[in-house]
Amino acid sequence: GAATMGGLRLEDLLDLGTESPQGERPRTPAYVYDVDAIVQAARDLSAGFEGAPHLIAYAVKANTAGPIVRALGAAGCGAEVVSGGELAVALGAGIPAESILFSGVAKTAREIDQAIGAGDRGILALQMESVEEIPRVVARARALGRKARVAFRVNPSVEADTHAHVATGHDEAKFGIALADLPAAYETVDAARDALELVGLGCHVGSQLTRTDEYLEGARVVLDLAAERRAAGKPLAYVDCGGGYGIDYGAGCPVTPADFARAASRLVAERGFGGTRIVVEPGRALVAPYGVLCASVVMTKCSRGEPTRRWLMIDAGMNDLIRPALYGAKHRIEPIDAPPPAAGAAPGYRVVGPVCESSDDFGEHPFAEPLPRAVVVRDAGAYGFVMASEYNGRGLPTEIFLAGGRVATVHASRDAAAWAASRLFG
Ligand code: LLP
Repeated sequence: GAATMGGLRLEDLLDLGTESPQGERPRTPAYVYDVDAIVQAARDLSAGFEGAPHLIAYAVKANTAGPIVRALGAAGCGAEVVSGGELAVALGAGIPAESILFSGVAKTAREIDQAIGAGDRGILALQMESVEEIPRVVARARALGRKARVAFRVNPSVEADTHAHVATGHDEAKFGIALADLPAAYETVDAARDALELVGLGCHVGSQLTRTDEYLEGARVVLDLAAERRAAGKPLAYVDCGGGYGIDYGAGCPVTPADFARAASRLVAERGFGGTRIVVEPGRALVAPYGVLCASVVMTKCSRGEPTRRWLMIDAGMNDLIRPALYGAKHRIEPIDAPPPAAGAAPGYRVVGPVCESSDDFGEHPFAEPLPRAVVVRDAGAYGFVMASEYNGRGLPTEIFLAGGRVATVHASRDAAAWAASRLFG
């Protein structure tokens, strides 16, 4: 039957079609999220640690929406943030300061102040991504008269088998402190004991990992370093294995988030760190499968050249979901009001948006006649809305949050006049 989310039929939630008079319902393009499923994903991941002490620091960059961050916080997650804006969202959503990590290669003085000043004792840790960054934090901590907790995000020199744009733990990446620079980093921290406390070590090898190998390689590097610290009489409060758990975008993904958790906690115990708190930083796996982008079909176009081309044109574009244009990502696209046809059983249409760029193309997908009034782009809950822009004078898409079998929150898109007003500056 028809596509559903959170037990509700998507076609009942939206004003579908672009020719009909404006209905009462929210317009497409619209993201729809199943908040209960997101919470369940966090619980399943948590169970993967098999009782080992852990903190799931949700990578807020994947989806910053209040209803989602609030629900994850209520389910016991912390947050990993990369800007003052994300930090304010995490705190505003009720995540305790002591469960928040702040990463990023170029934190401003203002952001450092925000992190050190949060809550009663500041955040869990500012993740240092270079030796050069450490004195900047020392200066701000001294100016504020507060001790700052820091962690080192090390570059473990691991090549992750993923798209080059999201592989972050290799030698050429701008992220993390190179292993060769660690002695200098320890020295800098030790010399500023009045202002800093080193509480953790971590790494993040990359995103959309579809096996645990590289993840464990990174974790091994971190554990070896933690063992050195412990031998030097300076044990750490936690080890951070990073995020990056892959999901099944349609091509398969043999591992679940809980598999990563299990593998990491077993490795940590094997290396003699049982009882040490394990921090992980997943974003995508907690939200991607539980969000979809709904779009109305505007029209079709057929070019009779060689080969014949058929386009299905929808009212969502690369400005709403940039992953296909930016990474060549393939998302499943299905009719909203009919079951998806079997691949090969129906003609393929290239699904494209209205934006004036050839890369505004969601790839080829089969569609049976009669063609659907609207389609659903699957697995769009992560790095979807957060990467959206207003390019081509298009307002940001609608967002609908489902919880408890009903629509809990609607964040409506602006219409053309409201968008124009925002650009006319009076
Ligand atoms: N921790 C750090 C330090 C990160 O850089 C990232 C992601 C994460 C955690 C969360 O990774 P995740 O569990 O979501 O894979 N826009 C791209 C993904 C960029 C990921 C950037 N860093 C995409 O749409 O695929």
